Amino acid sequence: MAMSVFVTRRIPAEGLRVLSQASGCRVQQWDSEEPVPRAELLAGVAGAHGLLCLLSDRIDREVLDAAGPGLKVISTLSVGLDHLALDEIKKRGIRVGYTPDVLTDATAELSVALLLSACRRLPEAAQQVRSGGWTTWKPLWMCGYGLSDSTVGIIGLGRIGQAVARRLKPFGVRRFLYTGSGPKPESAAEFGAEFVPLARLAEESDFVVVTCALTPATQGMCNKDFFARMKKTSVFVNTSRGAVVNQEDLYEALAQGQIAAAGLDVTTPEPLPTDHPLLSLQNCVILPHIGSATYATRSTMAVLAARNLLAGLRGEPMPHELTL
Ligand code: NDP
Ligand code: DGY
Repeated sequence: MAMSVFVTRRIPAEGLRVLSQASGCRVQQWDSEEPVPRAELLAGVAGAHGLLCLLSDRIDREVLDAAGPGLKVISTLSVGLDHLALDEIKKRGIRVGYTPDVLTDATAELSVALLLSACRRLPEAAQQVRSGGWTTWKPLWMCGYGLSDSTVGIIGLGRIGQAVARRLKPFGVRRFLYTGSGPKPESAAEFGAEFVPLARLAEESDFVVVTCALTPATQGMCNKDFFARMKKTSVFVNTSRGAVVNQEDLYEALAQGQIAAAGLDVTTPEPLPTDHPLLSLQNCVILPHIGSATYATRSTMAVLAARNLLAGLRGEPMPHELTL
């Protein structure tokens, strides 16, 4: 019997090729750069055995009901899983594939780029060149904060958190702190990183980099209290998920000068409305969720997602299956 799969977006061709060349696999796709409308998602998934989805698709009870009992596997083109109703998925015995590791380098690289953009005020400085604000070399103009001899606090020393620390270390960082659900001496050893409570990480870090997963425990974790504890000279960077941050509290902290600057690759909502208050601030650099956006990475993610899906459909071990 042919297996039918629904793909919720146009994905890199290499990934789609893996699916369309697989024998016994019938592919239906929302072939657009834009997200599938909810009604199309519900219709497209009906009767599917496999679903290849994106982080922008909310896969909840309604979608699972629409799919029906034949749905065997969900493969997400992401390492983040917060868009999936995992309890409900587990209850129904559906397998889940995801894309860890293959995007770690690209996301860590972007995190460093964002950190440097925020702390050295790159977008603001480049804008001054265009607008004629650059009148002469001035000793007190466009100064920021450097990494040399600094303390960097990493919230979530997982795959991406470690890859960020590895890249920042050669900049002359003096001390790494980290927080998470518990100490990870093996991961921390490479950086001599110290496990500390969140409050201490906020108080002692010159740079805070958020690289944790979004979970009920991390939602809204970076809030008024957190920003109040940070130094006025510190820089906050988030490349995890927007909802880890209370954005109203971040806005106040940036606008009141409680912290020096922020760099965000992720926001709530996405896209961030163009009239959002955060976009009025010079000391906030915002990117459109491009952490994993290199051609090679996205292609590799698509192939991995396709292989996960096929393996799940065939009842074989997936290259990267989530343990539910
Ligand atoms: P990992 O699972 O390797 O790391 C997640 C980390 O989150 C773990 O170290 C975990 O620590 C930590 N964490 C969990 N709970 C808490 C907590 N309460 N406080 C602090 N830390 C906590 O995942 P990856 O590094 O591969 O990816 C991390 C996240 O990055 C993804 O979930 C995704 O949301 C985001 N991401 C964003 C991208 C972008 O484009 N901007 C690209 C790729 C990923 P512990 O083990 O101690 O629980
Ligand atoms: C993920 O994989 O979770 C990212 O946010 C996009 O690559």
